[in-house]
Amino acid sequence: MALQRHRETLAKTNLAALFAADGQRFENFSIRIDGLLADYSKNRVTAETIALLLKLAKACDVEGWRDRMFAGDKINASEQRAVLHTALRRPATDSVMLDGEDAMPFIHKVLNDMKVFSDAVRGGAWKGFTGKQITSVIHIGIGGSVLGPQLVCEALGNERGKKIPVRFVSNIDGADMAGALESADPHSTLFIVASKTFTTQETIANAQTARQWLISHLKDEKAVARHFVALSTNEKAVADFGIAPEATFPFRDWVGGRYSLWSAIGLPVCLAFGFGTFRALLDGAHAMDRHFCEAPPERNIPLLLGLIGVWHRNFFGAQSYAVLPYSQNLERLPVWLQQVDMESNGKTVDRDGKPVTYDTGPVVFGGAGTNGQHTFYQLLHQGSSFIPCDFIGFAATPANVPGHHRMLLANLLAQPQALMAGRPLAESGNDPQRAFSGNRPSTTLLFERLDAWHLGLLLALYEHKIFVQGIIWNINSFDQWGVELGKVLANDILEKGKGGTPDASTAGLQSYLRAHAAGSI
Ligand code: F6P
Repeated sequence: MALQRHRETLAKTNLAALFAADGQRFENFSIRIDGLLADYSKNRVTAETIALLLKLAKACDVEGWRDRMFAGDKINASEQRAVLHTALRRPATDSVMLDGEDAMPFIHKVLNDMKVFSDAVRGGAWKGFTGKQITSVIHIGIGGSVLGPQLVCEALGNERGKKIPVRFVSNIDGADMAGALESADPHSTLFIVASKTFTTQETIANAQTARQWLISHLKDEKAVARHFVALSTNEKAVADFGIAPEATFPFRDWVGGRYSLWSAIGLPVCLAFGFGTFRALLDGAHAMDRHFCEAPPERNIPLLLGLIGVWHRNFFGAQSYAVLPYSQNLERLPVWLQQVDMESNGKTVDRDGKPVTYDTGPVVFGGAGTNGQHTFYQLLHQGSSFIPCDFIGFAATPANVPGHHRMLLANLLAQPQALMAGRPLAESGNDPQRAFSGNRPSTTLLFERLDAWHLGLLLALYEHKIFVQGIIWNINSFDQWGVELGKVLANDILEKGKGGTPDASTAGLQSYLRAHAAGSI
């Protein structure tokens, strides 16, 4: 195909040569929108590459699928569900029809309830069972029910103001919950139980533990009503758990777990920073939604970044890509992105259930700069793998520590430069150990500042980039059947023997555990 032939021609050239040949390369291969500069000029692409990739997008009808997603069509076919996280960020004046009903009034009712509740908690009107003000929150959830709000709370951590600290617990390992309860005051702690299904083993077990802990301290089951709230689509299971409807913030099954930050799952952000911050996050994401829907293909950032990712994955054999935020507060971004990308596009059958004959979603990894420079960057610069990198930086910093931000930014600029330019043998004292091949691609995303609005812009950008790739690969990016088998087997093991005789390795491991811990598995 044309892209493959073009790839072969491009093999003979390198990034430095592309810059030398085109004095306008940065201008031609970067896009500015309000609050963001996306520079993709350090990727191995030419105008012809972009034109061919846009042709591919057209052939795969990315625009049509995008419009169907935004309109509420049931594009998650294996679960017969619409994919409408974008509706959660829309203004109340919009309308999105789903099964003959406008979804917007429900969305804005829940948003209003989140505002009223978070105002009451932050203002002291909502008190604990013994009349004390709520001064800290423990959010219990896992996967998409925790990663988004945790990322946002950490990212905005430097924003000062009247804030209630939120601690996050997800792991079934008792150490996670024990650590949270150790310093908690039962009189002034609010627990959020966040689970789309309200059946997830880890979350329900952690919530039960927290419930027992609260009752054991406050000596009254009625205390649960003042100290527990739920965020879920499963209102019946929430009620069975003992959480009242007025303390339940619902969302619908058309919000995928990993896309649920924008729903009631964002409540911790409201409690920590106030509802206005959450609204700003939604508005930033909505600005990216509009860009994705309205910008022409050749100026459309998520579309182009998605296509460049496909270019790297399918034509350069990239097994992975690195996401490298130059911001300590965004240290958790790679983890959030791992779920959004790998749970969405880690598939080997297409939308019709047929095996795909090409590579799909890559491995995502990363870490905050500059720390990563002293751990895994060696492999990025001189390793044998081809690993495209996304660098993310912010012109302004909330951290008021003189001198540091300049150094951070200098490092942010130096790394993509080093990856691209490398250092020839002749300039490395003829020592091959010290030479860098260069010609390694990267994209740099620069934002004006790290605040809620710009964070919304960034997260929605990645969501749409991943969507574009799912469409090109003809897979359903919105189901996750691959997580099911392990859950079933864990339950079989818990209900001893239910799954029949395990394989010899599992049986051997089990007998070691039994021999070394009383009451073990
Ligand atoms: O196991 C994966 C998963 O289903 C994710 O998709 C989801 O975000 C997470 O578990 C948590 O699910 P829930 O919100 O239903 O507890």
